[in-house]
Amino acid sequence: MHLSSPTLFPAQRPRRLRRDAFTRNLVREHVLSPHDFIYPVFVHEGQQRRTPVASMPGVERLSLDLLLPVAEECVRLGVPYLALFPSIDGELKTLDGRESLNPEGLIPRVIRALKEEFPALGVMTDVALDPYTSHGQDGLIDDSGYILNDETVELLVGQALAHAEAGVDMVAPSDMMDGRIGAIRDALEAHGHIHTRIMAYSAKYASAFYGPFRDAVGSSANLGASNKNVYQMDPANTDEALREVALDLAEGADMVMVKPGMPYLDVLRRVKDEFKVPTFAYQVSGEYAMLKAASANGWLDHDKTMMESLLAFKRAGADGVLTYFALEAARLLRK
Ligand code: PBG
Repeated sequence: MHLSSPTLFPAQRPRRLRRDAFTRNLVREHVLSPHDFIYPVFVHEGQQRRTPVASMPGVERLSLDLLLPVAEECVRLGVPYLALFPSIDGELKTLDGRESLNPEGLIPRVIRALKEEFPALGVMTDVALDPYTSHGQDGLIDDSGYILNDETVELLVGQALAHAEAGVDMVAPSDMMDGRIGAIRDALEAHGHIHTRIMAYSAKYASAFYGPFRDAVGSSANLGASNKNVYQMDPANTDEALREVALDLAEGADMVMVKPGMPYLDVLRRVKDEFKVPTFAYQVSGEYAMLKAASANGWLDHDKTMMESLLAFKRAGADGVLTYFALEAARLLRK
């Protein structure tokens, strides 16, 4: 098409629809709402205890008593779910991560307290071993350091059941072991937890954007120079993401996730187009850190880039976003 094409221009002037706010409002294709957000939070033991995460300005690990007012604000703003991540005391971390199975562990206690105080707030938990292992991997390792699959899945099943017993609304296996969704679904059904939802981290990439999160849960030092390439996906692949999603749905996932977010919007779009199921994106710690750092330097406008980045997920097909910006964005939307 040429600009001066006699048939198109000036019959078509796309700028007509952009001329004023009321027309832009009328033709807008996507809108953000506080209902689109899942707010990931870091919890640790203690009382009146908060420690900042240096690489995530504005994010703190909180003790349960300090988390309650945060949960209350989620309810008030209409943010439907909290996602819990534990920062476990170092002496509880072991080679096999067995603290993850403790029905009286930190996460089950936090689930119970949240569901008692705020029954109308959804609580989601990560199912993975990395906050609990002394080596920072998401699974059991053999003598060569290889991450064992089936043995790890058994532990993940136990962890998911401990969360379900405590009353969690949704478990989110983030480990990328093969077959774990089916094993967890079978166990939940067998124990009568027929309503527990599973959001599968289906297309989870071996990404360098998780760095600040690993600081927050204290796994980065333990992980050292090793990586997660033998279970998380190769950032070069997208067909493989569709195969992973197909498997997780067949095994019993209710919702699927693509992670990280902004660098993987193409994967998100393909997943949504192909499967048309509730599909979520995780705007991960490194994405949050980038935007915070640039705006702290005065290089980017904080609120505008935050909202634009979140809207991009909706445009790319997401039904919702796990984001550390959830509260800030919801407050802006409520204004
Ligand atoms: C652990 C887990 C990770 C994240 C969520 N669950 C880190 C990892 O896989 O190493 C990353 C979240 C983020 O970076 O914000 N299973």
